[in-house]
Amino acid sequence: MTTEQAQKRIAELSEKIHYYNHRYYHDSVSEISDYEFDKLLEELEALEKQYPEFALPDSPTQRVGGTITKEFVQVRHKYPMLSLGNTYSEGELIDFDQRVRKLLGSQSFEYVCELKWDGVALSMTYRDGLLVQGVTRGDGEQGDDITANIKTIRTLPLRVQADKLPKEFEVRGEGFMSREVFDSLNEEIAEENEKREKEGKKLLNYLANPRNAASGTLKMQDSAVVAKRKINAYIYDLLCEENPFATHTESLDYLKKIGFQVSPHYRKCSNLSEVFAFIKEWETKREHLPVDTDGVVIKINSYAQREELGFTAKSPRWAIAYKYKAESAATELLSISYQVGRTGAVTPVANLRPVKLAGTTVKRASLHNANEIARLDLHEGDTVFIEKGGEIIPKITGVDIGKRKIGAPQIHFIKNCPECNTPLVRNPGEAAFYCPNEKGCPPQLKGKIEHFIGRKAMNIDSIGGKTVDLFFEKGMIRTPADLYQLRQEDILALEGFKELSSQNIINGIEASKNQPFSRVLFALGIRFVGETVAEKLADYFRNIDALAAADKDTLINVPEIGEKIADSIIAWFSDAENRAYVERLRAAGVQLATSGSREMLSDKLAGKTFVISGVFKKYEREALKELITRHGGKNVGSVSSKTDFLLAGDGMGPAKLEKAEKLGVKIISEEDFEQLIAG
Ligand code: IVH
Repeated sequence: MTTEQAQKRIAELSEKIHYYNHRYYHDSVSEISDYEFDKLLEELEALEKQYPEFALPDSPTQRVGGTITKEFVQVRHKYPMLSLGNTYSEGELIDFDQRVRKLLGSQSFEYVCELKWDGVALSMTYRDGLLVQGVTRGDGEQGDDITANIKTIRTLPLRVQADKLPKEFEVRGEGFMSREVFDSLNEEIAEENEKREKEGKKLLNYLANPRNAASGTLKMQDSAVVAKRKINAYIYDLLCEENPFATHTESLDYLKKIGFQVSPHYRKCSNLSEVFAFIKEWETKREHLPVDTDGVVIKINSYAQREELGFTAKSPRWAIAYKYKAESAATELLSISYQVGRTGAVTPVANLRPVKLAGTTVKRASLHNANEIARLDLHEGDTVFIEKGGEIIPKITGVDIGKRKIGAPQIHFIKNCPECNTPLVRNPGEAAFYCPNEKGCPPQLKGKIEHFIGRKAMNIDSIGGKTVDLFFEKGMIRTPADLYQLRQEDILALEGFKELSSQNIINGIEASKNQPFSRVLFALGIRFVGETVAEKLADYFRNIDALAAADKDTLINVPEIGEKIADSIIAWFSDAENRAYVERLRAAGVQLATSGSREMLSDKLAGKTFVISGVFKKYEREALKELITRHGGKNVGSVSSKTDFLLAGDGMGPAKLEKAEKLGVKIISEEDFEQLIAG
């Protein structure tokens, strides 16, 4: 194929695929089979790969994703994305209507009622007819640029012919995951978990609800995965400099005409009773929609009147959201259980007489913490009201005091750990009670082991939570270091383990010895040392002994390490048991140093200690620290008699300067420093 032929074919294929897409998503007509469609798409993908210069900016291959975005760029909204005033009561709608009437005087006006879709607000910019940017709401002022992910939404046109609209315009709408897609993804997870259960591997979490699933999906880094999750969107707004239309419904009709999937089922209402009728009609009908809704949005139709009504600080005066009440039920409180997590935090859970609520049977409700028990003033045997919010686990919203039995004792939060009986403690300013017995409380010990084997830590995926439980109950492991002492015959002796499964476990443990030092550091479970901090520490100290020996000054000089983290690291290494634990890991052959040494540039600064202060013209502070280290020097945070140089930039703190002068520490500039390391 010649270059010209390739270019021509790419244009031809793009055109064809756009056409079939439009027929399918817009007109619900399949003119060709899925197989034929996929063939066309594959051919286009292959050609674009070979001749990327000819790929069109609205190429339909963008629908299948493939772009990896490491970090989403924040962009400022041209028009802020405001939120709506919310109400659950008809009375407040009457108030809203009266406010509108007062402000509009004698003018007649029209409302538009729309369903309030329960997803995520999205804003899409079109320039010269091309979809150029898709952004999340964020804080309303600025959001994340998720363009690649948004382009996977098949009902959203990549190019439109919008002759009536200005060169640039925005459409806004709700991104969502349909109930059907949500259910099928959870089914896939269930199937995968069944497999994992058999193999003793860690189970995947289920998606909590379609809204969280949609918002989580749209923030994924790999747009090819997003494409598979079939996010969809309903458009409910048009924004541009000079809107050629006089009303909202005219805009919606036009958007529909040029190919957008406009939010369906909206209706013009000329008075409040029509609004109430819409609300009532959809209260039950909404259950049969393919998408979750949580209310109705009531908007003034005329743009001129919207302008007259204006905005309050947070939301427009020309619109309001009526929210349907979450379904609630009443049932008896049977007892309260207390669960202890990996960090020792104790969470109360209410056990309830089973009751039907919004389609499922509820047996438990979360109570969050001790304050919640006190706030509800729970008594034994109380009849409680429960509601399903956004979360899967319902919550208790109140007590039916009329049903309380005389003399029923009040419920108080427990004083001792339900697992190990240690008296619980509460840190000042925190709501949770903790069991301080981190070295002896079984769920905390098991939690630490589970953290240690986790995917982002030692990645021992041949062991799952159930296996940890079993090994722990049998007394085979108590700390993560014990894993390295497990023998295959010990595992084989347990019921349910065969040659293969036990060998798998041993192999997984063995393989974890190759996990890099940064992962090991994360696996130790030092408070505040998450994945990123562990990487920074590993990169800086290169081995565990250097880290263990570091004082606070040295620690806070590491990029991104603050006092809180430094204190926690020092406390951890000052504990003899922790040090013994590290030694056992060392003996087992776990990586306690970064392999390969940092590329040194010279030893010109060997034995010299630097304090950096102020802002520099040529270098970022981190870059200077890096240079000092790579020339053999050492960075510390504050000036002392042991400091050799104070590397001073603009706006340096006067106290540091004074101290350096008093102690006779040499004060050098950026240029002086360059001299030191030159040659
Ligand atoms: S209109 C000025 N219409 O509800 C705000 N919003 O607080 C204009 N939502 O997160 C919003 N369905 O994403 C509008 N038909 C609809 C909607 C809708 C859902 C969401 C919106 C935002 C929230 C409003």
